[in-house]
Amino acid sequence: MRIAASLSVAVLGFASLIAAQAPTAPKVPAAKAAAAPAVAQTPPMGWNSWNFFFEKVTDKNIRDSADQIVASGMKDAGYIYVNIDDTWEGQRDANGVLRTNAKFPDMKALADYVHSKGLKIGIYSGPGPKTCAGYEGSLGHEEQDARMYAEWGIDYLKYDLCSFIPDVMMKQAPNDKAAQMKLMIAAYDKMDKALKATGRPIVFSLCQYGWDAVWEWAPSVGGNLWRTTGDIQPNWDRIYAILSQQSGLEKYARPGHWNDPDMLEVGNGKLSLEENRTHFSMWAMLAAPLLAGNDLPNMKPEIKAILTNRDVIAIDQDKLGRQAAHIYSDGEVEVWTRPLAGGAMAIAVMNAGDNRYSTHPFHLNLRRLGLADTQTGKDLWTGKAVELTDNMPLELASHDVLLVRVEKPVFAGKGAESAPAAAKPAVAK
Ligand code: GAL
Repeated sequence: MRIAASLSVAVLGFASLIAAQAPTAPKVPAAKAAAAPAVAQTPPMGWNSWNFFFEKVTDKNIRDSADQIVASGMKDAGYIYVNIDDTWEGQRDANGVLRTNAKFPDMKALADYVHSKGLKIGIYSGPGPKTCAGYEGSLGHEEQDARMYAEWGIDYLKYDLCSFIPDVMMKQAPNDKAAQMKLMIAAYDKMDKALKATGRPIVFSLCQYGWDAVWEWAPSVGGNLWRTTGDIQPNWDRIYAILSQQSGLEKYARPGHWNDPDMLEVGNGKLSLEENRTHFSMWAMLAAPLLAGNDLPNMKPEIKAILTNRDVIAIDQDKLGRQAAHIYSDGEVEVWTRPLAGGAMAIAVMNAGDNRYSTHPFHLNLRRLGLADTQTGKDLWTGKAVELTDNMPLELASHDVLLVRVEKPVFAGKGAESAPAAAKPAVAK
């Protein structure tokens, strides 16, 4: 882990450097960006090993997790990808073939096992010489690795920048941010081409922490999803900080191409029930990939209930593929809306405030959402019908959410404040 620690320091150092200089992203060639991808037409759903197991993950953990995805009903609810994150890698042999390490004795057999459950399997690598945890990366072996993934039957690749920053970008183009960015984009493009050359449909997940306006160029290098932030952690402050960074990115999400605010922490750390519920609700509003990251064999019933709430999942997986917009805040309460297929709308009212004892109700302003005074919908956490009226008082616990689906929203006529951004047609760049 010493390597991992020093890499993180290098990465963090580079992050602040790049943030200070923020180079302009190149324009995406229209023809390339428009090519319809066959995968990820809705945000990928599944589970990833990192947020609970970190570097300790083993073959057995993956098999147990796959078993539990089926047994818990998560598979039926839409969780399909079982993704092995970092630390499966061993050394390369004399022919450059990357061997697995002792924790993963037979990757092909593991992939076959996951597939036998009707699930898909994902893996992790990076364009640098080393991964973030200091294991073998794909630099100089991209085609070879992609072919091996395809032979194993891999369905999803998370490709994490990490050591490519100090070992390639900073070495080859010191003090030239624009040249460094070109190197990074070329590295993702290279792996995309290598994956495509295998002929196997493989979801391509870019992990470079949301730098350099990745949402503008990721589709041009085949990115089906791209991380928009640094790492998530299982605490409210981090989850809320990430959520706050997503506002404004909604115009980049569309079928085949999704903003990725990082994997779920539902059921991890010391998140309260409200926080778990809000985290899940807001990730669904964001059309985020829903990759659970908890200890599935020991999942508590209330966590299972959150992760398998079909109504909330349906918001995430809505066919229109439009991400929610933050419409307004009043004090610590935020209101987000998401347009859904068939003219429906999801409304989330979230109390980001820390005061557990507040008795001061928030008043919902439907006019600011472009809506008429009365709306009927479904409260997706109680499952009950709910009527929303303009200026109605809402008592929300600290870090809790009201998530409502309005099947037939009644828009305000003359005199209403202008319709919110989220209700207007998507403008994908
Ligand atoms: C980080 C990444 C995490 C995890 C980790 C593995 O860079 O953001 O999600 O993949 O590397 O080492």
